[in-house]
Amino acid sequence: MNLIKKIFWYTINNLFKLIHKISLSHTYQKSKDQIRIQFRPGLRMLHKQINRELYNQKLNWNKYIYANNYMYQGWDKIFITGLRSTDSRIQEYKIEKYLNEKSTVLDIGCNTGFVSLALANKVKKIYAIDHNVHLINIGKIVSNYLGINNVDFIVGDVFNIKNNVRFDQIWSFASHDTNDKGINIGLPLFFDRLDQLLKDKGTIVFESHEHDIKNNKFIDEMKKITNNFKLKDFRFIKKYRFGSKRIKRYFYILEK
Ligand SMILES: C[S@@+](CC[C@H](N)C(=O)[O-])C[C@H]1O[C@@H](n2cnc3c(N)ncnc32)[C@H](O)[C@@H]1O
Repeated sequence: MNLIKKIFWYTINNLFKLIHKISLSHTYQKSKDQIRIQFRPGLRMLHKQINRELYNQKLNWNKYIYANNYMYQGWDKIFITGLRSTDSRIQEYKIEKYLNEKSTVLDIGCNTGFVSLALANKVKKIYAIDHNVHLINIGKIVSNYLGINNVDFIVGDVFNIKNNVRFDQIWSFASHDTNDKGINIGLPLFFDRLDQLLKDKGTIVFESHEHDIKNNKFIDEMKKITNNFKLKDFRFIKKYRFGSKRIKRYFYILEK
């Protein structure tokens, strides 16, 4: 009897693991999105353009490719599931009160720029920069589709931005130490760079990676870094990685 019980639970457990794995996969997300757009001709064309750019990325981008060459950022508005839902993130970030129609924002490592596009109507201008031309092209395609004209998409390295340009707000969402090694100078130097690009009284909105949680080195370094700024907000955020609601990250808002 015990053996039957064990086999039963073993099968159930593995079945759940399998379902979880499948639901995490980019293939599942892509198929789901393809089905959803079938009755939306405008979105069908948009998705075709996006998929063409993803194909170009697969052929030509020789650095690390996020989300298995599907979308890292999802956005329900355009029926893209992606790995991280832009809607849930914005809901959880609650940064609207730090934005106004006079602010200029720099979105560092913006990826496809969906966070910038979703918040564009709250600010004067957003400069969304990423070194991956294909992700930037997708951002431009979506921006055109939605008729948003105050987000400037820039293909470039965040370390090559001219030093005399400064912003009211800088967003660094999971971009301080990137898988593709495009940014990996360590936290203290990274924040020095943000500081150089920030106007007086400007704010930095910073989201950690999942793996920073309980990382003592990260926690120690952030303690020192936050001493150089005014800490306006500090929270744990969760709920927006496809397939898991439990994952936590640190979230900081710092004023110069
Ligand atoms: C983990 S993703 C985070 C994307 C986005 N900030 C978000 O949270 O949805 C890191 C991004 O940084 C970009 N990146 C890496 N190194 C860069 C660099 N030196 N300059 C600009 N972008 C960079 C990558 O192409 C990637 O899109």
